Amino acid sequence: MRRSVVRGVGGYLPPKRVTNADLAKSMDTTDEWIVERTGMKQRHLLAEGQNTSDLAAEAANIALKNANITADDIDLIVVATATPDHPFPATAARVQAKIGAKKAFAFDVNAVCSGFVYALSVADQFLKTGQATRALVIGADAMSKIVDWNDRGTAVLFGDGAGALVLEGVDATHPDFERGVHSTHLFSDGCHYDLLYVDTIAASAKQPGHVRMQGREIFKSAIKLIGEAVEKVLAHNAITIEDIDWFVPHQANLRIIEGISTHFNIPMEKMVVTVDQHSNTSAATIPLALWEAARDGRIQPGHRVVLEAMGGGLTWGSALVVW
Ligand code: UT7
Repeated sequence: MRRSVVRGVGGYLPPKRVTNADLAKSMDTTDEWIVERTGMKQRHLLAEGQNTSDLAAEAANIALKNANITADDIDLIVVATATPDHPFPATAARVQAKIGAKKAFAFDVNAVCSGFVYALSVADQFLKTGQATRALVIGADAMSKIVDWNDRGTAVLFGDGAGALVLEGVDATHPDFERGVHSTHLFSDGCHYDLLYVDTIAASAKQPGHVRMQGREIFKSAIKLIGEAVEKVLAHNAITIEDIDWFVPHQANLRIIEGISTHFNIPMEKMVVTVDQHSNTSAATIPLALWEAARDGRIQPGHRVVLEAMGGGLTWGSALVVW
């Protein structure tokens, strides 16, 4: 029996900060609409020439430093992204080269906004079986490259960024065995792919496609599907809401987070919220939120943390991590 224990966390946001008022200068929107409908106040966007792997490598280096290890100690890199630098090779391979993790094998996972929970689950399987010992699990997206800047209904919602965890597999005799990833729960329903997709076919693309979203429909599904994932993680671990120290939700809309809070009677003080500052960074929202809450001292060793996400696919999922 082995468990994947968190050894370090890192995050990176590109320096260019764009406020709602900045967006209102170039499109038919207002700060009031964006704040009222989403809770978003600002987002960070890539600089010219920057790519998803650059964001991911920055976050990975911070996580390695936080874990007090070097890239040489890593034998697995999983990057969750829906905005890879290229269709291939995997962005994870680009990250491997950028950070110099020569002993690692590296690949991407694409489950869009649920990508980090999926990547965590995949890495956890390798660590639990002992096929890898130390993994970097990264959520990184550059949504600004694929949003349609002429569509106010989607363009205002997204930001760019990356977050990373270093996980180490330990056996049952290790003093940290009670910590780590206790369970992950993944769900998909491909019948609803058209609620959120990119309108290009990769093999024939001459131009990058754009995000197309039926926002209201996704919104309606969100509370139900996230609710299902949260119920599953609680039941599987035989715990209640009161046993949880922190909820780290995917950050798509403050109203969805508040809806989950109301539905499960989770005090908002237990919710880690970054959507106001980062907007929706897709696969990066959860590791960025973990990074923020760990570095400001909210999440402490031993705390029970529930992660949950829902996004394109449709995909959704949850995890229980003891920090
Ligand atoms: O992370 C992956 C999963 N994604 C999500 O979970 C997103 C889920 N959906 C949402 O968060 C919300 O549906 C949105 C924030 C996308 C939209 O909020 P809404 O309350 O559902 O608004 P709506 O799309 O129903 O639009 C309401 C009105 C429309 O005008 P009319 O037709 O009522 O006159 C839109 O044209 O708001 C208008 N509108 C805007 N107005 C100003 C849409 N976008 C904007 C905008 N600024 N940026």
